[in-house]
Amino acid sequence: HKNITLHSLATKVRKGQPISMVTAYDYPSAVHVDKAGIDILLVGDSLGMVELGFDTTLPVTLDDMIHHGKAVARGCRRPLLVIDLPFGTFETSPQQAAQSAIRVMKETNFDAVKVEGGRQRLPNIEAILDCGIACMGHIGLTPQSYSSLGGFKAQGRTAAAAYELIKDAEALQETGCFALVIECVPAAVADQVAKAVDIPVIGIGAGPHTDGQVLVFHDMLGMMQHYHHAEFTPLFCKQYATVGHTIQNGLADYKRDVEERRFPSMEYSPYKISDAELATFM
Ligand code: KIV
Ligand code: NA
Repeated sequence: HKNITLHSLATKVRKGQPISMVTAYDYPSAVHVDKAGIDILLVGDSLGMVELGFDTTLPVTLDDMIHHGKAVARGCRRPLLVIDLPFGTFETSPQQAAQSAIRVMKETNFDAVKVEGGRQRLPNIEAILDCGIACMGHIGLTPQSYSSLGGFKAQGRTAAAAYELIKDAEALQETGCFALVIECVPAAVADQVAKAVDIPVIGIGAGPHTDGQVLVFHDMLGMMQHYHHAEFTPLFCKQYATVGHTIQNGLADYKRDVEERRFPSMEYSPYKISDAELATFM
């Protein structure tokens, strides 16, 4: 397979072919995403919730992102690799944004970074782009603004708010972002945003009219449903597998086998000692 590049991605969108994107956070999930032929792999700061057990993405550090990004990079060749700049690593100045993006690119060898925010982040995003680093935007529900948004809530639900989203998308395109994610907005609003810009608009909880879709690995595969109080599948997330169920069944079968002394049978006891050695030893 040929690796996905910014160029081949743009070509795909120009041909009207939808882009598939999914998150991954470690070596095995990266191997699976690569093997499945997904176009873009995102090491999202959602790892704070689905991998580290936090309630929000706010505690995630640049070191956390780099740690997971390095493991992901070892697992794949084909997809475009994008990594989030986490909360607190790019907002305070263009210099901070550039330094964080440079460090992530040096240490993970990814293709691009993703940064939450619209026009209020333009100078910071410009500084990243000025360093020669490709940047993906992220508008609509921006989970790093959990505090000021008052929770994980759908965005763009008034005419004024929808208009602001279009202005943000246009500004991000103008600045030089190669694509943008739009999260949790009405389908009709995402449609208008996608029509307002030429760069690929990738939706999550944003309806069917965008140029691509992105979902969180654990949510789409049913990893945690019914097993952890803090985990829930968002309303917009289709569950394509019930991996959590498969894991629970495997663990329960193993526990029962151990308790009933059925595992390991001699079939799983492969190491031999010769009869002569054994006679001496015993
Ligand atoms: O962190 C993440 O997983 C994301 C996607 C939901 C777009 O930013
Ligand atoms: Na994110």
